[in-house]
Amino acid sequence: MIGEILPSWVASAERFGDAPEETLFPEERPFIARAVDRRRREFVTGRHCARLALARIGVTPGPIPRGERGAPVWPAGTVGSITHCAGYRAAAVASTGVARAVGIDAEPRAPLPAEVLPTIASPGEIEALRALDDADGEICWDRILFSAKESVYKVWFPITGRWLDFSEAVVDIDASGSFSARLLVGDPAMGTRALSGRWVVSDGHIATSIALPRP
Ligand SMILES: CC(C)(COP(=O)(O)OP(=O)(O)OC[C@H]1O[C@@H](n2cnc3c(N)ncnc32)[C@H](O)[C@@H]1OP(=O)(O)O)[C@@H](O)C(=O)NCCC(=O)NCCS
Repeated sequence: MIGEILPSWVASAERFGDAPEETLFPEERPFIARAVDRRRREFVTGRHCARLALARIGVTPGPIPRGERGAPVWPAGTVGSITHCAGYRAAAVASTGVARAVGIDAEPRAPLPAEVLPTIASPGEIEALRALDDADGEICWDRILFSAKESVYKVWFPITGRWLDFSEAVVDIDASGSFSARLLVGDPAMGTRALSGRWVVSDGHIATSIALPRP
């Protein structure tokens, strides 16, 4: 699923089941030492997908520590992103020679809880969701909006090292499979306030991606 919405210069891997815990590197074990079973499995398989994707761009398997605010610490010369949700795990990576950042996010294909939407979307974004729903009520557009903002954050944070609130990006979803995001705050490291991404749905999941090329 994730490969369908990534450019050819981004490598990816995905799993619908879990990898054995032995696939973790010893350096990664402390990060889940006190974690519950669900968290252990998603962490292990996310790392497994990351190493599979890295192998596709010629990177020898090694540990991927958890860095500042939970962001993965990618091997030198690479950038990437990990996502997991019930029944799905994926990673996407690229060489820093071609990419500045990659952000991916997967979610169950189900409407957001009603009380969540106003906390992640502006009145204008909610209005736009209504129009999309009128055209196709099966997609779960609110979940795509949420996921797109998670992908924005996963591109924003590794570049800026800063928090970004849901109210600080405006996402405009195109029904044909893409979206654009306008950042309402600037950061010198970002160098742009405009991002573009893609979305895809399967029976049970939705996913979004943003791949920021190196100019
Ligand atoms: C960090 C966050 C984006 C993760 O998204 P999620 O939908 O909850 O969970 P996912 O499974 O898709 O992603 C989790 C993975 O994201 C990665 N991640 C965590 N923090 C990250 C960060 N600061 N930067 C980049 N990637 C990060 C990790 O790889 C993590 O998996 P791991 O802990 O097993 O390594 C989310 O929890 C969060 O904090 N969001 C608030 C900020 C935000 O989204 N703002 C919107 C701006 S428009």
